[in-house]
Amino acid sequence: MARVLVTGCAGFIASRTAELLLERGDEVVGLDDMNSAGLVLKEHRLEQLRTHTDFEFVQLDVSDKDAVANRVPSGAFDGVINLAARAGVRASVEDPWPYVDVNVTGTLNLLELCRERGIPKFVLSSTSSLYGKGAPVPFREDQDTNRPISPYAATKKAAEALTYTWHALHGLDVTVLRYFTVYGPAGRPDMATLPFIQRIREGRPITVYGDGSMSRDFTYVDDIARGTIAALRPLGYEVVNLGGDSPHTVRQLVETIEREVGRKAEITYEEAHAADVDRTMASIERARTLLDWSPEISLEEGIRRTVAWYEANRAWAKDIPTG
Ligand SMILES: NC(=O)c1ccc[n+]([C@@H]2O[C@H](COP(=O)([O-])OP(=O)(O)OC[C@H]3O[C@@H](n4cnc5c(N)ncnc54)[C@H](O)[C@@H]3O)[C@@H](O)[C@H]2O)c1
Repeated sequence: MARVLVTGCAGFIASRTAELLLERGDEVVGLDDMNSAGLVLKEHRLEQLRTHTDFEFVQLDVSDKDAVANRVPSGAFDGVINLAARAGVRASVEDPWPYVDVNVTGTLNLLELCRERGIPKFVLSSTSSLYGKGAPVPFREDQDTNRPISPYAATKKAAEALTYTWHALHGLDVTVLRYFTVYGPAGRPDMATLPFIQRIREGRPITVYGDGSMSRDFTYVDDIARGTIAALRPLGYEVVNLGGDSPHTVRQLVETIEREVGRKAEITYEEAHAADVDRTMASIERARTLLDWSPEISLEEGIRRTVAWYEANRAWAKDIPTG
């Protein structure tokens, strides 16, 4: 049984990761600042976690150095899974400062916590957005990632670099995970899947950026959570993609949702954003070799489960503000 610190625990991916850790018998201390973005979903996810006796929650801002140093509960931790972040690509263009605070300074504060408390393992969530525009597919971890095209991706690059420094200087075991478009139940309201399901189900129009041919390596949240937990093993310093291994266009996503919801979408097209990459596709050879991981849930099955979650929670989920 391990004791793990999970940051951003009320978030989409962290809450599912924490849930799977608790289900396998680990103790989880979760941190989240509960900022107002998508708050109703955060409260919903946190409520599920609070049903576990081995879960402890601390409301805390990871970019606050003193709070991280002094308010993280005492006692030994086997690892930190750092999923607290500002995560929207387009919003980072409007206001990059919180991205630096949370994604860079927050990571630094948590790395220092590991050093001070002798925590042996650090898992960092990074992103496929780092591969930039026009990168050859599938994206391999050793490809150049020095030209990020959004402030979000730039802060993730900075965070990756910091983790390497703490590995080199202090021997911290680090696994950086580059996630590819994650979707699933209780997903983020600023990404495509939840808004599409909600709006198609409720007969509201959806917005598609570009002509619908942009493609993403959609990855189901349980696959991501399982891979994140697998990354807690000692590996030295590694960067590993976690992707669905089966890219779909935005148009295919819409069609899959239409079939599952049983309604046609009313689509408004808008120009693609300059900070969006055209397509993503992961090479997952490293994940297979190092983590013994491969994705198990197809887009059809994942959308089926996500729509089922929406129907079960529709009474309040229909009113979640979606862009
Ligand atoms: N969802 C995806 O498709 C995707 C893809 C690539 C990478 N990622 C990365 O995965 C991680 C989790 O993403 P997610 O989709 O679950 O996002 P999310 O927004 O649902 O979760 C992030 C959580 O961090 C919390 N948080 C933000 N600032 C904080 C602070 N200062 N202190 C403490 N907590 C804070 C938020 O309240 C939120 O609950 C992020 O690092 C993100 O960049 C996600």
